[in-house]
Amino acid sequence: MRYSTSLLLATPVFPSLVLGCQRDRHFHTPNLLKRQSTPLASRSANEQTIIDSFSNNSISDWSYYYTHGDHVAGRNKSQAQWTADKWTEAGIPSSLAEYTVFLNYPLNNSLSMTYANGSVFHAGLVEDVLEEDDTTTWDNRLPSFHGYSATGSASAEFVYVGLGTQRDYQRLADLGVELEGKVALARYGSIFRGLKVKNAQDRGMVACLIYTDPAEDGNVTVANGYEEYPNGGARNPSQVQRGSVQFLSTYPGDPSTPGYPSRENSTRADMSDVLPRIPSIPISEKDARPLIAALEGHGVPGAEVNRTGYVGAINGSSYSSGPAPGVTLNVQNMMEEVYTPIWNSIGVINGTNPDETIIIGNHRDAWIIGGAGDPNSGTAVIVELGRAFGKLLAQGWKPKRNIVLCSWDAEEYGLVGSTEWVEEYIPWLTGTAVSYLNIDIAASGPHPMIAATPELHKVATDTMKKIAWPFTNRTMYDIWNEDTNGTVAVLGSGSDYTAFVHRGIGSIDMGSDGGPGDPLYPYHSNYDSYHWMATFGDPGFHHHAAMGEYLSLLAYNLASEELIPFDLPNYADQMDKYYEDLSEVISVSSGNLSISDLRAAIDTFRSQAQEVVQLSQQAVSSNDTALLQVVNHKYRDFQRGFTSQGGLVNREFYQHTIFAPGIDTGYAPVTFPGITEAVEAGNFTLAQEWVLKTAAAIRVAGNIIKT
Ligand SMILES: *[C@@H]1O[C@H](CO)[C@@H](O)[C@H](O)[C@H]1NC(C)=O
Ligand SMILES: *[C@@H]1O[C@H](CO)[C@@H](O)[C@H](O)[C@H]1NC(C)=O
Ligand SMILES: *[C@@H]1O[C@H](CO)[C@@H](O)[C@H](O)[C@H]1NC(C)=O
Ligand SMILES: *[C@@H]1O[C@H](CO)[C@@H](O)[C@H](O)[C@H]1NC(C)=O
Ligand SMILES: *[C@@H]1O[C@H](CO)[C@@H](O)[C@H](O)[C@H]1NC(C)=O
Ligand SMILES: *[C@@H]1O[C@H](CO)[C@@H](O)[C@H](O)[C@H]1NC(C)=O
Ligand SMILES: *[C@@H]1O[C@H](CO)[C@@H](O)[C@H](O)[C@H]1NC(C)=O
Ligand SMILES: *[C@@H]1O[C@H](CO)[C@@H](O)[C@H](O)[C@H]1NC(C)=O
Ligand SMILES: *[C@@H]1O[C@H](CO)[C@@H](O)[C@H](O)[C@H]1NC(C)=O
Ligand SMILES: *[C@@H]1O[C@H](CO)[C@@H](O)[C@H](O)[C@H]1NC(C)=O
Ligand SMILES: *[C@@H]1O[C@H](CO)[C@@H](O)[C@H](O)[C@H]1NC(C)=O
Ligand SMILES: *[C@@H]1O[C@H](CO)[C@@H](O)[C@H](O)[C@H]1NC(C)=O
Repeated sequence: MRYSTSLLLATPVFPSLVLGCQRDRHFHTPNLLKRQSTPLASRSANEQTIIDSFSNNSISDWSYYYTHGDHVAGRNKSQAQWTADKWTEAGIPSSLAEYTVFLNYPLNNSLSMTYANGSVFHAGLVEDVLEEDDTTTWDNRLPSFHGYSATGSASAEFVYVGLGTQRDYQRLADLGVELEGKVALARYGSIFRGLKVKNAQDRGMVACLIYTDPAEDGNVTVANGYEEYPNGGARNPSQVQRGSVQFLSTYPGDPSTPGYPSRENSTRADMSDVLPRIPSIPISEKDARPLIAALEGHGVPGAEVNRTGYVGAINGSSYSSGPAPGVTLNVQNMMEEVYTPIWNSIGVINGTNPDETIIIGNHRDAWIIGGAGDPNSGTAVIVELGRAFGKLLAQGWKPKRNIVLCSWDAEEYGLVGSTEWVEEYIPWLTGTAVSYLNIDIAASGPHPMIAATPELHKVATDTMKKIAWPFTNRTMYDIWNEDTNGTVAVLGSGSDYTAFVHRGIGSIDMGSDGGPGDPLYPYHSNYDSYHWMATFGDPGFHHHAAMGEYLSLLAYNLASEELIPFDLPNYADQMDKYYEDLSEVISVSSGNLSISDLRAAIDTFRSQAQEVVQLSQQAVSSNDTALLQVVNHKYRDFQRGFTSQGGLVNREFYQHTIFAPGIDTGYAPVTFPGITEAVEAGNFTLAQEWVLKTAAAIRVAGNIIKT
């Protein structure tokens, strides 16, 4: 599901948090003189076996398999079984975990615009069929629709609402633009699409359209000499971004079973407040252009609205808000609502320590026949990972810790398969989980990215030094370091790590994507196909292989080392950074807040973390198995302390007090979310309560590692 690449757009809440947004990439100008090429770090014999096991050719075969069959959530049990069978063949016993969840599927939709003079424009709502790209020609190719969108119709004047953030709508309201009763036309970008729909609904608007603006393309445009897909890496103007419109920042998982697993006969909760009630449809630039043009000169021009990212890149358009008197949109959206089985494939390697577990996951479902990038680049990789681990097992390897391989279903609708599984196994996970490793879009371009909880930063970046990055003669670490200035991103949401993190299980998310000038990734479009991947995304499938080698080595080390390779003092270092960010937010706010309790809690945590490092060194140097187990269990358990049982304000699901997706971002993280969001909302009483709660959570985590 991860966020579509948005190269140019930065809508920072505050500057330093921007780095956390996984797919808002920020490329620093590379300093060619200092261009670093570190030698490849040495690998153990087992690590070399893993690396040698990875084959770009077999990865391409797995990719071809997954991208040539309808595998929308709940519609392809045979792919789930095939995945489990591949792992079983490799020597890892695997089976399916089934849940019965609420989903909806598209029946039909339509969009037309009636001008004041009575003439009508009919939007096509379809992506062009391209002979070069076989799955775009299939009769059962997926229409453009929004998962979990409401069935309904609307006929009304419409308003252009920019990115559709709460602040965009507020700004328009402040400028006197009438929103109630109108249709919202929002552009994609920055925040999770379901929140754009929610914000429209909260303003009394009657439907929401979300379109792809050329501002998302950066410099990769026809005007700059790039050809449109299928002839080149520029976006085809008929491309549509499908996706879920669930209210991700409050209610991930099956909306009908909040907090408990979805079985066939589970009690179903009322969903009217957790899913949109107004219809929505995703549209292409091609279909949006006449709509934007019809608003020209009506309402408030974009320059006067003056919000970051509000004005897009359609030449000659002022992005007037509208409404244009007498110009109406007719929106119709019909969905079939079902309670239907979904299938996670689960493979297990038992470790010698039964009470420590590493979990590796990727989702399998896609919005389209293809899904070559999202998610099946990751799926191809975890099939290959199973084979690599199978080779080690055949050589007599026994990991210290259990390794669980997961291929999730229904991630796209709202992290459904992973969330239901976590809800089912929460007692066992709380007792044994050490880390969850997620790979969603493994490959969509040549730039690696990671986001992780702080204890994993060191092992995650060290492991990059063991990976040769394709076509560069440099390590993965060098490329990543140059792109990010050595900063590991903070986890928000948008993929399957979410349910784990918010039950106190540390996680990493990883993938690779395009930078400036690279082919544009056709996210959630029919063009995210095997053909696109083999031609533009990752010709030769070498980035797939490199990401797979990386994930496998990371998992191997987390599962095998005597001492879990965690860096706890870095948790204190990162909290220091979040503390500085928070101080900045408070300093520009209108109120007063005392955060000395938070300061003290972080400082205490730091000294406890330093003490446990000493204890771990003692355990390793004396090879004291009992003491190693004591330390390993502290490492395994400490993160649970950061969670708050009742969850964040009005969002019980989100329990981690150190980071969470922003309530109005869905993808991008907010650090110290309870405090930060209360300050932003201007509620200093609430903020003060959350200073106490957050500091208390840090103390609980610290007490778990206390020696
Ligand atoms: C399921 O996926 C496989 C492989 O992509 C495909 O061959 C098969 O036709 C799909 N099944 C259905 C019911 O679409
Ligand atoms: C959409 O589907 C519904 C249910 O199948 C049907 O009643 C309706 O006529 C269809 N509308 C259009 C425009 O095809
Ligand atoms: C109606 O107005 C639209 C938009 O101004 C224009 O493109 C179209 O030609 C007009 N149709 C007629 C029949 O005048
Ligand atoms: C669910 O309920 C139906 C109807 O009562 C019953 O036939 C079925 O066996 C139940 N399923 C499970 C898993 O209990
Ligand atoms: C836009 O807002 C910025 C700061 O919020 C302000 O400095 C600038 O003058 C505004 N521009 C217009 C055209 O209103
Ligand atoms: C792994 O351990 C579990 C729990 O002890 C046991 O049920 C299962 O049979 C074991 N699997 C294998 C392949 O040994
Ligand atoms: C790759 O790096 C090695 C060692 O730094 C160097 O000897 C070799 O010439 C380089 N190859 C290319 C193609 O740059
Ligand atoms: C890169 O990181 C260093 C050290 O943290 C910092 O001093 C520098 O300003 C950063 N550069 C950029 C471009 O962010
Ligand atoms: C686009 O090109 C312009 C002019 O060459 C350059 O200044 C800018 O940094 C480029 N933007 C991106 C995202 O590459
Ligand atoms: C795998 O890599 C080799 C060597 O670069 C290349 O010749 C081959 O075409 C690649 N396989 C696929 C399926 O792209
Ligand atoms: C540490 O102790 C374990 C069991 O007591 C033994 O198997 C292992 O070889 C020892 N390791 C070292 C490095 O001495
Ligand atoms: C601020 O939060 C408190 C809960 O601590 C709540 O009772 C109060 O209503 C909130 N104030 C506003 C203005 O929302």
